[in-house]
Amino acid sequence: MSIRLSNGSEIPIEMHKVRIVQRTRLAPAHERLRAIEEAGYNTFLLRSRSIFLDMLTDSGTNAMTDNQLAAMMQSDDAYAGSESFAKLEQSVADIFGYQYVLPAHQGRACEHLLAKAFVKPGHIVPMNYHFTTTKAHFDLAGGKVLELYTPEALNTRSSCPFKGNMDLGRLSAAIEKAGPENVSFVRMEATTNLIGGQPFSIENLRQVKALVEPLNIFLVVDGSLISENAYFIRQREPGYENVSIRDIIREMMSIADLCYLSGRKSCSVRGGMIATNRKDLFEAIRPWLPVYEGFFTYGGMSSKEIEAMAVGIREMTDVEVAGSSADAIRYFACLLEKEGIPVVTPPGGLACHLDATRFVDHLPQSEYPAGALAAAVYLTSGIRGMERGSVSMDRDEEGNDVPADMELLRLAVPRRVYTMSHYQYAADRLRWLYDHRKLIGGLEFYEEPPVLRFFGGKMKPKGADWGAALAAEFVSQFGPHC
Ligand SMILES: Cc1ncc(COP(=O)(O)O)c(C=O)c1O
Repeated sequence: MSIRLSNGSEIPIEMHKVRIVQRTRLAPAHERLRAIEEAGYNTFLLRSRSIFLDMLTDSGTNAMTDNQLAAMMQSDDAYAGSESFAKLEQSVADIFGYQYVLPAHQGRACEHLLAKAFVKPGHIVPMNYHFTTTKAHFDLAGGKVLELYTPEALNTRSSCPFKGNMDLGRLSAAIEKAGPENVSFVRMEATTNLIGGQPFSIENLRQVKALVEPLNIFLVVDGSLISENAYFIRQREPGYENVSIRDIIREMMSIADLCYLSGRKSCSVRGGMIATNRKDLFEAIRPWLPVYEGFFTYGGMSSKEIEAMAVGIREMTDVEVAGSSADAIRYFACLLEKEGIPVVTPPGGLACHLDATRFVDHLPQSEYPAGALAAAVYLTSGIRGMERGSVSMDRDEEGNDVPADMELLRLAVPRRVYTMSHYQYAADRLRWLYDHRKLIGGLEFYEEPPVLRFFGGKMKPKGADWGAALAAEFVSQFGPHC
């Protein structure tokens, strides 16, 4: 929730009390330099003890509630027929209005099951934007992911409220070209992770459904950030300002044929699930669940997490929970904008995104500007963000680098974890870095996995050791202990 102060400014106000805390530590700059070198300039490979603010992801890093933790104590570990699963089914029925539930260990496991059941060689899978694991699974099954976003989606300086909308003209043309029988399904990601956590509107979802339903193509929603997408619909879509998050989610689900999600985000647990009312879709996926995940009533999740998910699904419909990270992101993005730092607008869900193309405009895309910026931000602040640019794209079949549509540094805002002083600290260090941005150089790989290279790949400064020079400049200004 945001609250207006008497001076007219707005701040995100925490509608919770902090009763358990975890210590963090600001490693000095020389230690950060060593840590990023050892990590091959890849923030994924840093250890927690070297990190002050962990803004890599909001995935599985949210603060859980007292009710979730209490529910975990009551879990039923029965291999089959667990009562914990029955509670999850009930929550899904109450909130999503879906009868059939398939639990999985996380979101990508759901994607694997969907790919196994529905994606065939030569198929296309149209979507508003891809997510890394989604694309990997659908590609591996022989499908082709088509991203049919509107032109506004890639504009980093926009006021468009729904940059996650599907372009209906492009969708219709793609289906006509491939033939409806060669379309696995259409996927709408709520909210589009890789292009700034941007939502789609209910109107757009309805239009997509109207287009595909007569062609016998089913509509899948990736609901990993469903409560945030619903929160943006409530804030931005005319007619929804007084509709509850619960009713908006229910309406989205009544339009979709199937929803899968990573429970690590909106639900604030570690797990995933697929849910639907379509018996045919459920039955096509169900046989694969025990093969890849686990028995039907746990599917690779611990029963504790299933209990917490049953609670998290209900809690995410509370407007104060649904908006907890979105409001903080808006505050953080506004602080950065005031400092002249290029951020993606409008601010979306999951993270504040820096536009590396503008931040380090002297670096060509072939030198991974977003990856370089991620390393530089860590070096000068101890803040770990995540590269969402060309490092996050794998090479094509000929081994060529595939330039990403956007070069972003994602500074994720896990729900209820950080405070205003953290955002103010981040804004200050980012301002310093922006003033010294010409010290940031490019990167090149020296170890490169063939799939999802961003997770485990290692890089080094291209040419001169700009990392050491940047750290030295930082120490000369702030001293050796900052
Ligand atoms: C939109 C979206 N879909 C799928 C996934 C994959 O989920 P998981 O990390 O739980 O495997 C993620 C993870 O960040 C995501 O953001």
